[in-house]
Amino acid sequence: MFYPEEIVEEVRTKNDIVDVISGYVKLQKKGSSYFGLCPFHNEKSPSFSVSPGKQMYYCFGCGAGGNAITFLMEYENYSFVEALKALADRAGVALPQADMSKEARAQADLRAELLKINKLAASYFYYQLKQPQGKPGYDYLRNRQLGDDTIRRFGLGFANKTGDDLYRYLKGRGYSDGILKETGLVSIEERGTHDKFWNRVMFPIMDVNNRVIGFGGRVMGDGAPKYLNSPETRLFDKSRNLYGLNYARTSREKYMLICEGYMDVIAMHQAGFTNAVASLGTAFTLRHASLIKRYTDQVILTYDSDGAGVKAALRAIPILKEAGVSAKVLNMEPCKDPDEFIKNLGPEAFGERIAQAKNSFLFEIDVMKREFNLEDPEQKTRFYNRVAGKLLEFPEALERDNYVQAVAREHFINYQDLKQLVNRLGSRLGPAVRMEAQPGASSRREKKREKEDGIKRSQRLLLTWLIENPGLFDKIQGIITPEDFREELYHQVAQMVFDSHARGEVNPAGILNHFINDEEQYKTVAGLFHAELGESLSNEEQKKAFSETVLKVKKNSLDEASRNAADIAELQEIIKAQSALKTLNISID
Ligand code: GTP
Ligand code: MN
Repeated sequence: MFYPEEIVEEVRTKNDIVDVISGYVKLQKKGSSYFGLCPFHNEKSPSFSVSPGKQMYYCFGCGAGGNAITFLMEYENYSFVEALKALADRAGVALPQADMSKEARAQADLRAELLKINKLAASYFYYQLKQPQGKPGYDYLRNRQLGDDTIRRFGLGFANKTGDDLYRYLKGRGYSDGILKETGLVSIEERGTHDKFWNRVMFPIMDVNNRVIGFGGRVMGDGAPKYLNSPETRLFDKSRNLYGLNYARTSREKYMLICEGYMDVIAMHQAGFTNAVASLGTAFTLRHASLIKRYTDQVILTYDSDGAGVKAALRAIPILKEAGVSAKVLNMEPCKDPDEFIKNLGPEAFGERIAQAKNSFLFEIDVMKREFNLEDPEQKTRFYNRVAGKLLEFPEALERDNYVQAVAREHFINYQDLKQLVNRLGSRLGPAVRMEAQPGASSRREKKREKEDGIKRSQRLLLTWLIENPGLFDKIQGIITPEDFREELYHQVAQMVFDSHARGEVNPAGILNHFINDEEQYKTVAGLFHAELGESLSNEEQKKAFSETVLKVKKNSLDEASRNAADIAELQEIIKAQSALKTLNISID
């Protein structure tokens, strides 16, 4: 953190979280909290809560959580400093300039400066497109049936043939060679200086916050390379951005369309499919999938119909699955890509194809089938075995059976026969699958994991209780200390909670500031303050749950301590405490 903690806290406390989030999400009061539709995942009924008491938000659906600062970081793709500045402006707090370390200051300035230059370059390209010298570019785009509105919306432009006019323009605005080099827009070498993009139509690449972070340029006609992209810069990280997401994220559809190219995205948006995005001339990564998961858990792949497109789809499917996004695949035949499809068959036909898009598993089977000559009995058998093997990927018996049915139906295989084949193969392949065949028998490792999760849950419950009802600190005095939270992160947080209580305050949103540089961590921490306490329970039941939780946390802590005891004396102490625990009675009133 570059700003002193007090400043960060001042800015945060002067921005009420309900006010801040109300600017983005429609919230409704329910009990002591506000609820709305989560902006970080797609949902129909509100599980996104904002607590004025805790000054935190938390989604019980997807686990997104944090304070006002992390909200802006996540929603606006701001860095910590940018989010802090936005909130400081909002509340009229003047941020001290000098308190940032010199390096940090320089970093932040450089980023802001690069964004400014990119924006200038984008408007320069856009301006050129409308000039006589930009006519080839303009004609090209019009030829590809893009309207003026679309060109403006995507900020399309033209890089001239001249070779260094962007460089000269930017120099004229006072930028040094040093910083221009960092933009990736020009190359400055001994033999001379020239623009990277030359005689190309230009596609500014925007982040979710509509800031230009890089460019793609398409050659006029048939030259090579067909598309040239900005190199990776301080701003531009291909694996973190999706072209078109700035618009797609506000689309009302409950799924997104993923395609390969700039022109595909634009053609789809122009035709009304404003939920289309593309990975930027790179392979689809888990980062991309997680980015999408913030907005939806369903996508339709609209890759090219050629071999490369099929391969790309087969690659993307498991990645999406890993991120928890389910995929369907659109049949593009007889066209090459969405752009061509819409041009030739129209938006309506494209809409129909969306409705008919195929479940990704069935798509994978289709592709697999092409490897076999089903006229040949031996190959046909091999195909069936491969299908059965693939069906075993579903660990849940019920889900697997649904797919057995679907595959049997679609490929005219006898359902019973296929089911038998799958089961036989499953029992041959070993315990992972057999386990499923006899429900209830879970492995020892799994049991252990469940137990650990139960303990973590108890610790979360306890922290949430203490935050929501500081009076409970008295009840656990002499029993629970921060050391009883055995997980490192939990322990850190518990220590802070206990410390702040000792100072007479409860400030979960402030505690969160300590973890703000690590998304995984602040999410976990937000979760620690938002365990579900079972509001529906009666008073008596809640008291019982509380004392059981306290005992469970303490017992686990002692058990672990006994395993790690350094000597007999220590062990004896622990055993004494363990037996004392058996007779302990926590009274809540
Ligand atoms: P058009 O011919 O303009 O319709 O292109 P397209 O949208 O059909 O693109 P294509 O299927 O050829 O390529 C899809 C995407 O891959 C493009 O949008 C680029 O992002 C990327 N791409 C294509 N060719 C190149 C290339 O030569 N170099 C790089 N770096 N990327 C490319
Ligand atoms: Mn194309």
